[in-house]
Parts: sequence; C-alpha cells; structure tokens
Amino acid sequence: MSNDETATGRRALLVAATGIAAIPCARLIGHTPPDSGAQGWFRLAKVNELVEGLPKRFAVIADRKDGWVVEQRVEIGAVWLFLRSGKPVAFSASCPHLGCGVQVKDGGFVCRCHDSNFDAVGKRLDGPSPRDLDALETRIADGDIFVRFVRFRAGTQERTELA
Ligand code: FES
Repeated sequence: MSNDETATGRRALLVAATGIAAIPCARLIGHTPPDSGAQGWFRLAKVNELVEGLPKRFAVIADRKDGWVVEQRVEIGAVWLFLRSGKPVAFSASCPHLGCGVQVKDGGFVCRCHDSNFDAVGKRLDGPSPRDLDALETRIADGDIFVRFVRFRAGTQERTELA
C-alpha cells in the first residue's frame, strides 16, 4: 500500500466518522426546546366552592418545561378567584410590580414586598405597582370555573402577555 492510498483511506474513514457523529449533533441543534411555562385554560373550581366577594387562592398546576427538563404537576402560578354578582372574577396572584405574591387584605389585595395596595376589584390604590392587578378571563362549563392562566410582563404600565 502506497502512502497516497493510506492517506486516501484515512481521509475516507475520517469523513465517514465525522458524518456519523454529525447526525446526532444535527438532531440536537435542530431540536427546539419545549416552551417554558404554560398557559391556557385551567379548571380551578366549582361554582359552589366560591363565596360572593370572598377571594380564594387557587394554585395553577401543570407540567413545567425548562429546556429539556420537564417537572410534572408543579405549581406554575396562582389565581385569586371569587364571585361578583354571581359571575367568576379572577386575578393573577403575581404582583404587576415585580411579581411577588399578592395577598388578600381588608376587602382588597396587598403585595407586601413593596406595599402595593389594590381594592376589591383589583384597582391599584397606592404603592409602586405600575398598574391594576391582572384580570384573567373566566368561563363556566357544567358548574366548573375555567380560568385562562396567562403571565404578564412585570414592571410596566401596559399589560403585555408573556409567551
Ligand atoms: S413586587 Fe409587589 S409591590 Fe413590589
């Protein structure tokens, strides 16, 4: 075997090995990681579980995807839910300022991180929150209350849904 034939053989082997290795790499590069977070409609309560004007906190449970890691059935957020004139009203439990958890206080809501206060219909009263509480869409089907859980950008006056 001449030196030329050996070099050609080595080159062919290198090309073949590179090609074989490139296939799984291409799959990894071409794979789109799953979305982070989740949004959509969640059945959170029965209508008869709620009391008129008395907010009740409900955790939103779903699978959380972070890159290729999936945590199953974890709390991805929370919602304050109550009835107003017999109709469901829902607010995100995340403060529009920087996302701390909002609590019920004196017939309204408060975020204790930086003392933002909101009235019973989610209107901002004082504090650094740049907007009212984020209302969420609701619907009733067969006595169940569904809430469209959405995350919004924190710290801005306008409500911007996060993907
Ligand atoms: S995060 Fe709620 S007031 Fe700052």
